[in-house]
Amino acid sequence: MTDSGESADANGASEPRVTLADVRDARERIRDVVHRTPLDTSRTFAELSGAASVGLKLETFQRTGSFKIRGAYNAMAQLSPDDRETGVIASSAGNHAQGVALAGDLLGVDATIVVPETTPAAKIEATRGYGAAVVVEGEEYEGAYEYARDRAAETGETFVHPFDDEAIVAGQGTVGLELRDQYPELDTVLVSVGGGGLISGIGTALSAKDADVRVVGVQPEGAAHAKPSLEAGEIRQLSDVDTVAEGIADARLLETTFAIAREVVDDVVSVSDREIAAAVALLAEREKVVAEGAGAAPLAAALSADLDVRGEHVGVVVSGGNVDLTEHAELTRTGLTELGRYATLRLAIDGWPTRVAPWSTPSRRLAPSWTSSNGLATRRPITPTERRSGSGSRGATKRTSTGSSKRCPRWTACPWWRGRSTPTS
Ligand SMILES: Cc1ncc(COP(=O)(O)O)c(C=O)c1O
Repeated sequence: MTDSGESADANGASEPRVTLADVRDARERIRDVVHRTPLDTSRTFAELSGAASVGLKLETFQRTGSFKIRGAYNAMAQLSPDDRETGVIASSAGNHAQGVALAGDLLGVDATIVVPETTPAAKIEATRGYGAAVVVEGEEYEGAYEYARDRAAETGETFVHPFDDEAIVAGQGTVGLELRDQYPELDTVLVSVGGGGLISGIGTALSAKDADVRVVGVQPEGAAHAKPSLEAGEIRQLSDVDTVAEGIADARLLETTFAIAREVVDDVVSVSDREIAAAVALLAEREKVVAEGAGAAPLAAALSADLDVRGEHVGVVVSGGNVDLTEHAELTRTGLTELGRYATLRLAIDGWPTRVAPWSTPSRRLAPSWTSSNGLATRRPITPTERRSGSGSRGATKRTSTGSSKRCPRWTACPWWRGRSTPTS
């Protein structure tokens, strides 16, 4: 290894760790098992960004919902018969777990995935669904990672790294080869960076002399480690990461990806969580694509004023769509707020409900005041007749046996109302 990250041969000449030929071999190896995902061009995003065109490479439609199967299958297909027999182990709480699990299933290799205790049950079930054994170990990802490495050393299982491995990088690079075929006019490609395997592979595929494309990495502001590392010429590690894009919430590049990224990455930009959320919302609204934060980050960069893509043909790798729907709804809401299309009104009310109960309680008594148009609930003003008759009145009213009515101005304090779900007369 030279300090430019290339390995030196016996004559001292240096060779790249992963070559275009490796990526082409990977493409042959995985051809029959992965999808060639679609490339969708978007006029809306071209207009919003000022680009000549924007092409979305939709790995959301890849098997397991992200690009990860490409690298995992490429690496595991090259195991010796003995290693296949012994099985593989990986640590991941996310997309890599599913990639390794499915690759194991397809290749007939036993796969064990170690996940931290914080992993949602749904993700564990999804991984088991692909046929892998799941071991829960460690409070956080680091604990799961160490357990998996120790167990691999003891049992001889092959540890399948999520990014820092040449075969993984070559497999992920097949996204770049497809992109080049599907979008020959490509000038710039935007790729999310976590540990750097995806961008190292795509960069290797696209930085060859016959296809010199600008390769730009995208990271969340709360996990922006790659730019400082590439600028300093050494790996810089963050002490803390904080982002909604959990798929790219990594703290550092590692040796292999740092070495390759130095050669093939032209720039790295960062985007805020709110910009990522806006991109999630726009992908759903305009493209009908469900993307996770890590998958939407490159679109956020394309639309950001900080990156100039005017007049260029821009490839945006939408790398994954594994997000549960409540989280997607939350991201969409934040995104629409960021886009100025959704507002949350909060009222601080002194003395509620005495003063505002008729306008704030969707009770049966008040139901006539609700109308609905275009699916939106609105409230019409209470009419004077309704007000006189008591429907829509404040508090609760009860007719007594003599026919007079008894009124309690504070309905929560009314002895005849307390305990009912809606105030009735
Ligand atoms: C959806 C998604 N996009 C991008 C990445 C980044 O990949 P890498 O860690 O190889 O940089 C990941 C990593 O898990 C991911 O899950």
